[in-house]
Amino acid sequence: MPTLREIALQGLSHMQESGQLRVAVDEEARGILRGWMLAKKKGTTSPLPPQTKPHPRQEAASTTMQSVEEKLAYLRERAAHWKAAKALGTLRETMVFATGNPRARLMLVGEAPGYDEERLQEPFVGKAGQKLNQILGAMGLNREEIYISNVCKFRPAMGENQGTANRAPSEEEIAACLPIILAEIRAIQPLCIVCLGGSSAKGLLGSTASVSNLRGNWHECQGIPVRVTYHPSYLLRNESMAAKRAVWEDMLHVMEHLQLPISNKQRRYFLPR
Ligand code: URA
Repeated sequence: MPTLREIALQGLSHMQESGQLRVAVDEEARGILRGWMLAKKKGTTSPLPPQTKPHPRQEAASTTMQSVEEKLAYLRERAAHWKAAKALGTLRETMVFATGNPRARLMLVGEAPGYDEERLQEPFVGKAGQKLNQILGAMGLNREEIYISNVCKFRPAMGENQGTANRAPSEEEIAACLPIILAEIRAIQPLCIVCLGGSSAKGLLGSTASVSNLRGNWHECQGIPVRVTYHPSYLLRNESMAAKRAVWEDMLHVMEHLQLPISNKQRRYFLPR
């Protein structure tokens, strides 16, 4: 029996042969096709079945769903049963969505939940989260004012005896979850986004460049300005003034963009004396 993937590809080839060179695909289909392409590049097959429910945007158009809060509640529900992620078989079961203010001007996007986040079902509540809270405090912000999410919504699995160990999500895992974070961005429409670490930048910017190459400039995701900085756990591993200053410089740019007040003392943080 042909797989769904083969049927879909046959259909696309048939359309191409009959002269149709473009097809409209929504974010969810795009995520599935991206997963197939990655699997093809690696010589593996990806058994991603298409989602049976309509895409959130299509359904949103036909219902009275209006507010950001309602859109996010709907997305959260969809994400919990996200077939593209479940079908990989490499992510754990518990879905960890997002935290903070749906009307935030600033959105932070991390990598994936770890042990603590999975246990409490909230992003950035472990050691990296404490470091993040310190950074936000230095900016004069708190978690309730901003929106914090992850590019991958499930803790990457590491076998039966995983314990507290965590790992970064693979490209396939990021691609499978990408439509969810993109839909969150469209719902929230923040003034700017900060990618915390390389996995987040890989998803949102489609770039495999290192964080050190991506930081220092503005990028864009779905029309929203994006800044890339080191992941808070990088600061936990690297206590140097240079690393702290690098993250702080990125955050000063974000503060300027948000027109937050910046004191001289703040500007001088982590500079050599
Ligand atoms: N690291 C992340 O990237 N996200 C979390 O939620 C926790 C740790």
